[in-house]
Amino acid sequence: MPSNSSDAATPLSSRRGGALRGRARPPGDKSISHRAFIFGLLCQGVTDIKGLLEGDDVMRTGEACRALGAHIGRTGEGDWRVAGMGVGALLTPTHPLDFGNAGTGSRLMMGVVGGHAVTATFDGDASLRKRPMRRILDPLTLMGAQVLAQAEGGRCPIVLQGTGEPAPIVYRTPVASAQIKSAVLLAGLNAPGDTTVIETEASRDHTEKMLIHFGAEVEVAPEGEAGRRVTVKGRPELRPRPVVVPADPSSAAFPMVAALIAPGSDIVIEGVMMNPLRTGLMTTLIEMGARIDVLDPRVEGGENVADLRVRAGPLKGVDVPAARAPSMIDEYPVLAVAAAYAQGETRMRGLHELRVKESDRLAAVAAGLAAAGVAHAVEGDDLIVRGGDGAVRGGGLVETHLDHRIAMSFLVMGLASDRPMAVDDSRMIATSFPAFRALMERLGAQFA
Ligand code: S3P
Repeated sequence: MPSNSSDAATPLSSRRGGALRGRARPPGDKSISHRAFIFGLLCQGVTDIKGLLEGDDVMRTGEACRALGAHIGRTGEGDWRVAGMGVGALLTPTHPLDFGNAGTGSRLMMGVVGGHAVTATFDGDASLRKRPMRRILDPLTLMGAQVLAQAEGGRCPIVLQGTGEPAPIVYRTPVASAQIKSAVLLAGLNAPGDTTVIETEASRDHTEKMLIHFGAEVEVAPEGEAGRRVTVKGRPELRPRPVVVPADPSSAAFPMVAALIAPGSDIVIEGVMMNPLRTGLMTTLIEMGARIDVLDPRVEGGENVADLRVRAGPLKGVDVPAARAPSMIDEYPVLAVAAAYAQGETRMRGLHELRVKESDRLAAVAAGLAAAGVAHAVEGDDLIVRGGDGAVRGGGLVETHLDHRIAMSFLVMGLASDRPMAVDDSRMIATSFPAFRALMERLGAQFA
């Protein structure tokens, strides 16, 4: 599985053209695609996956699953077949696991390794090496895994020695993070008892849903006002089940915001996952006055999906509560772009987790807004964007810091700004949305 990124930075710019028109289907959901490979590894037998995101991040997870014993092959476009090993039967990798840019892949696989009697080295690119891993290593250590080596501050490269007898624990996550929750639940799969994760705010629930889909016993109960308590019974006999991956709402966000801000646009985005723990951006855009119609809602592969008709129109600033952050955590950069085109002020509250994504996204977004001449402020963990009269000057060069979503967000901004917008490097877009440029160009977007 080749890496999609080349060695030299590849700048890209976008400029205002006409309206966006037509229909497009974004790639498969990244969260579900990572998990599809991982669940394929954890069952004995053959798992067929349809609609997999063939981006670099997911391919790295596939490579790691191979290193732990899975046989993985591509059977068609987006179609993959995994012959897995089963819980408790993984092999020790013979080489370090290189996760590239993939935080989700590395953290979920730490959970898998932590709960097995194998030792693996986890590493990645300069962005991944900066990301905090202690939040994953702490609970895994409680379960009996050992960190044999780590870079300063609990960062990659990390050598993790898992245990074949992980202790079943009850763990309260310090931040609402599906990655922490998933790592603990995946380690708990090999525990002789029940493993429970408690979160005070519900994060995306794909791991729980897929555990149930593959035959594990899972209990989900409410916790406090907005939280959840998730328990998995250890040592299940996971059975291979087909996985159909819906289109990624976090990738749909880019054509969606582009169509809202490019005057005259009218597009349909097809097959978008409507899991309520992922639709915070849509809720916010609709509060801003966005014209988004939900067409043909249906269930595909166990998830609610729909086609979304998006039409350009005026937006107004809103106050986005901190409680909404888990359901739109990856969408703040592109929301900031929509807010730049809105009338009035948009305040996005409680964005502390943005500081530890593929880049410090709070700083990267603020710098991008500055480069485009958009009035804004960062107050503590809040980002305030002061929209003007619906116009954005543009004309800036944005530093992307190896962050795909920063690159795509500011390229979207340039599709409606007075002057073009440029990003210093577009290679990372391939981690989550390899066909971004082609899909956007088919809708009428102009890049150079
Ligand atoms: C993801 C969880 C989120 C999100 C990431 C994907 C997942 O991270 O930002 O892109 O698939 O579990 P956190 O759980 O750390 O918030």
